[in-house]
Amino acid sequence: MFLSAAAAGAGGLLLTGAGLGPSRTLARDPFTLGIASGDPSGDGVVLWTRLALDPLGLNGRGGMPVRDVEVQWQLATDERFATVVRRGTETARWKRAHSVHVELEGLEPGREYFYRFRAEGHLSPVGRTRTAPAALSPLTFAVAACAHYEHGYYTAYRRLAEQEPDLVVHLGDYIYEYAPRGYTAPGGSVRRHTWGKCATLADYRMRHAQYKSDADLQAAHAVAPWLVAFDDHEIENNWAGDVSSTGAPSFARRRANAFQAYYENMPLRRSSVPGGTSMRVHRRVDWGPLARFHLLDTRQFRDDQACEDGIRAGCDDRLDSGRTLLGEDQRGWLLDGLARSDARWNLVGQQILMAQRDAKAGPGTEVNMDSWDGYAAERTRLLTGFRDSGAANPVVLTGDAHMHHAADLKLDFDDPDSPRVAVELVTSSIASDGDGYRDEARVAETIAENPHISYLDQRRGYLVCRLDTEELRADFRTLDYISRRGAPAKTGARFTIPAGQSALT
Ligand SMILES: [Fe+2]
Repeated sequence: MFLSAAAAGAGGLLLTGAGLGPSRTLARDPFTLGIASGDPSGDGVVLWTRLALDPLGLNGRGGMPVRDVEVQWQLATDERFATVVRRGTETARWKRAHSVHVELEGLEPGREYFYRFRAEGHLSPVGRTRTAPAALSPLTFAVAACAHYEHGYYTAYRRLAEQEPDLVVHLGDYIYEYAPRGYTAPGGSVRRHTWGKCATLADYRMRHAQYKSDADLQAAHAVAPWLVAFDDHEIENNWAGDVSSTGAPSFARRRANAFQAYYENMPLRRSSVPGGTSMRVHRRVDWGPLARFHLLDTRQFRDDQACEDGIRAGCDDRLDSGRTLLGEDQRGWLLDGLARSDARWNLVGQQILMAQRDAKAGPGTEVNMDSWDGYAAERTRLLTGFRDSGAANPVVLTGDAHMHHAADLKLDFDDPDSPRVAVELVTSSIASDGDGYRDEARVAETIAENPHISYLDQRRGYLVCRLDTEELRADFRTLDYISRRGAPAKTGARFTIPAGQSALT
């Protein structure tokens, strides 16, 4: 693990250079929400922080004064900041919840960098980040999703950080919008949400601040750049396009509030700045010639869930060829990006289970209307597009399910001879649904019913993938408990996908 802020700040390394100014009017440390970086390219990356004296301060303002604050930043090639290669000043605007996004360019490819901020004499923790390489070189990335704050401690984020990946992919449900005890885990709750179900901008800002104040989450941000994309709970449970799952009349306003707070709290580029009720998070991130990440938005452009949502049998509407989950524009953008990709691996980061998952043992089918099963015709179109694009080694990375899964994606899941066109790796939750369990009988039943699924685990955890030109090796990391702190992470299963085979071994 690289140096802590305290260690890096020792030995006269405080930023006291010319032009930085000695004024110190913020009475306490404003870096209570940590630091982060994201969306690396071959020559740049985004640095992020948000100032808050008191994360749960009134009106989502984090205890900050109603004025703008000048924030200095530094980027160095060493963790002691002996060689600072860039520095600058940004204004943390109170109208933007004192968030700071520094979009860097002109850096060297394939390099590790360290960054920190200073505001009115206070020094932030140190973050480590990196740029994407220009040449083929191996990549270790982690995949995480679903971190309900009440349901358990973020030990899984801590363990992820300890593995020091090059990159972290977060596939949504970074926060949950529920009121305190609005959604309880089977084993109860270990912490309590800020008051009320999130609806106003202040609510979402405060909720993000509560989550970001967690030290384990801060450690995971500090270790590597993140690629983030929201799912439903950053806004509201199971929202679909313009439709609220609770029928709230003011959903457009809520969605705009949630988007603004999401942008303010994430290391996203300017291209993701929300414009009212819309926000662009589907985007591509290239990791040199080795990998292209295609990040999807499976909420904003989708049709409402079929048959009034839920886990349902006998819903013909879900098969309707006119239904869309990605929206026509995004689907075209994805298939075009796959067809034009020269990358050795094409990693499609998205939220909801893509493989068919029949929850009913024996005859008949019962599936989740909120996942791709509820948009089955578009799934077939998409998987056909994967095949026809000729893109090398498509692998779908998924969150949402609160269980680890490894699955083959096929053009026809009911036909054992149907060709596999991609592999799906689904990460379990960081915290959502509490400790979890290992129910061998239920796992065996689900796999028997869905033979394209080869692994399932209902415990908490994350994925660590090691990728090179020859293979993708995926470790499904699991923790036995999160209701107490300190659980070790173990590798529950390891799969290898050899390049060129679209198959799990
Ligand atoms: Fe979730």
